[in-house]
Amino acid sequence: MCGIIGIASNKSVSVNIINALKKLEYRGYDSAGLATINKGRIDEKKCPGRVEKLEKILFQNPSEGNLGIGHVRWATHGVPNEANAHPHSTEIVSVVHNGIIENSSELKKILEKEGKTFKSQTDTEVITVLLTEKLQNAEPLEAVFKTLGLLKGSFALGIIFKNYKDFVIGARRGSPLAVGYSNDENYLGSDSYALKSMTNKISYLDDGDVCILSKDEVKFYNSNKDKINKEIFTLSENKSEVNKGNYKNFMIKEIFEQPITLKTCLKEYIDKIREEINFYNLPIEPKKIKKIVLIGCGTAYHSCLVTKYWLEEFTNLVIETDIASEFRYRNNRFDKNNLYIFVSQSGETADTFAALDLCKKENLKTCSVVNVVESSIARQSDCVLPIHAGPEIGVASTKAFLGQMLVLYLFSLKIGEVRGDLDNKKYKKLISNLKNLPQLIKETLKEEQKIQFIAKDIHNSKGSMFLGRGSSYPIAMEGALKLKELSYLHAEGYPAGEMKHGPLALIEDGLPVVVIAPKDKYFEKTLSNMQEVIARGGKVLLLTNSDGKVISENIRFQIDLPSSDLSLTPFIFTIPLQLLSYHVALFKKCDIDKPRNLAKSVTVE
Ligand code: AGP
Repeated sequence: MCGIIGIASNKSVSVNIINALKKLEYRGYDSAGLATINKGRIDEKKCPGRVEKLEKILFQNPSEGNLGIGHVRWATHGVPNEANAHPHSTEIVSVVHNGIIENSSELKKILEKEGKTFKSQTDTEVITVLLTEKLQNAEPLEAVFKTLGLLKGSFALGIIFKNYKDFVIGARRGSPLAVGYSNDENYLGSDSYALKSMTNKISYLDDGDVCILSKDEVKFYNSNKDKINKEIFTLSENKSEVNKGNYKNFMIKEIFEQPITLKTCLKEYIDKIREEINFYNLPIEPKKIKKIVLIGCGTAYHSCLVTKYWLEEFTNLVIETDIASEFRYRNNRFDKNNLYIFVSQSGETADTFAALDLCKKENLKTCSVVNVVESSIARQSDCVLPIHAGPEIGVASTKAFLGQMLVLYLFSLKIGEVRGDLDNKKYKKLISNLKNLPQLIKETLKEEQKIQFIAKDIHNSKGSMFLGRGSSYPIAMEGALKLKELSYLHAEGYPAGEMKHGPLALIEDGLPVVVIAPKDKYFEKTLSNMQEVIARGGKVLLLTNSDGKVISENIRFQIDLPSSDLSLTPFIFTIPLQLLSYHVALFKKCDIDKPRNLAKSVTVE
């Protein structure tokens, strides 16, 4: 994964390019570079290593110019050295690129036969040489469209032209690209993280789109070269600006944001053109991984538990999970061939950071799944996988939990496919199924009224149980945690098969028991456990997806959720649990966004 930035301004751009590249370093940092139009020529500077090395070069030898592009690289073609660093320029054009051009070798052979020469081993330089050729008898926009028509694979491009000092051209196919708007200045960037320090007005290019960006205006074109308009979103990235809109509180807003935040996350990681998942900068070759250890706290730990089931389904790897506050003091058996994954919404949880720091001191390979890319945990990790959920204000984590699970689900698929443990046909099918996920969540949210009714019925209970098997067991734990932290009611999440080993003694007349039973391989067994509960007077809320067929007469409530690929049930079955805890807390007049005794980020041990 690489990061690109482009700026057209009424003032010098190199400082802002460098600052944006620093925000993009989470996407890769084995080399960095920029190019500006400086006194009528392309002024390119680049180097292997981190952005601060490029900054030192610029300090010694500044790059003037009000138009420029920049890039941080995670190598896919060619070793990390100066020649392979981006931008790739000829005398008349300069290009930065994120993605993979799959037919670059064939194109390079044709161009070399025509006498063209290359300075690097990269696929990107092929774009530069093609553009230089097309520009001989076409204006920039036409030359870009002609070049794009020859490319196979995925790209997000930033392009500047020696003889056109007023605009940057951007193009997207499969890799994310955003546009930012300001006064006398406009921006092109890989994602909103790169742009948010300069603007909060953002548009997103879709696959096939091309834009011409000058300091005063941005024009968009679709793949048919028709001029199009793009919606401008206002990002409220810092917490002080985030507002509740028409919602009563942040938690319910964040619950209902989930279809959008999942869609954003899917756009970021899935290359629709290549039907691929974009994870380039993992710190260890997936085939060399011996074991994956997932570590987190609270809800983040529950996403680790769900992921264990996915990784065990899609890979042949050994998978371990641990609570960070336990991991950091355990007599761990570290192994350099293990991958340690740290999950944290805030990226500042002390126990999780301490566990990560322990691994860093042992020179182990680390990866973090976070919602804040500038956080301590992100900065300390070898690789960062953002969940793109936007600021989560409610102390009870909702959209971040689904975002964590989505990134970890994509990670599980990618690792399984690269290792050859998951066959490619099934991999592509599961990627294709994911495009329905936002709609499935939207459908599930429509059950809110039924949930409200159930919440009213149980809100004065003295306790409750949440039961599930397989990946529904950590979802049961998450449902119990939500109810505890929001309504202060005792609740326990338990493996349904374990009830007979003691907790069945808790069941008494009228005790609410939530049973999570998707129609998976555990379905019948879970229903038997449910009958054991009913026989002892438990008041059962059954969450299932049996297309409305009544499972049993003596169930108090049954909610049928949308059917999906079974591996997606953790996402869908979490929604009613979030809504249940929310409405019970409302009936009990608890503080929804700031429950007692808790904090949004536990930065102490
Ligand atoms: C979740 O609803 C809780 N607020 C809490 O368990 C939280 O998940 C935990 O403190 C971890 O926080 P983090 O994801 O920011 O590391």
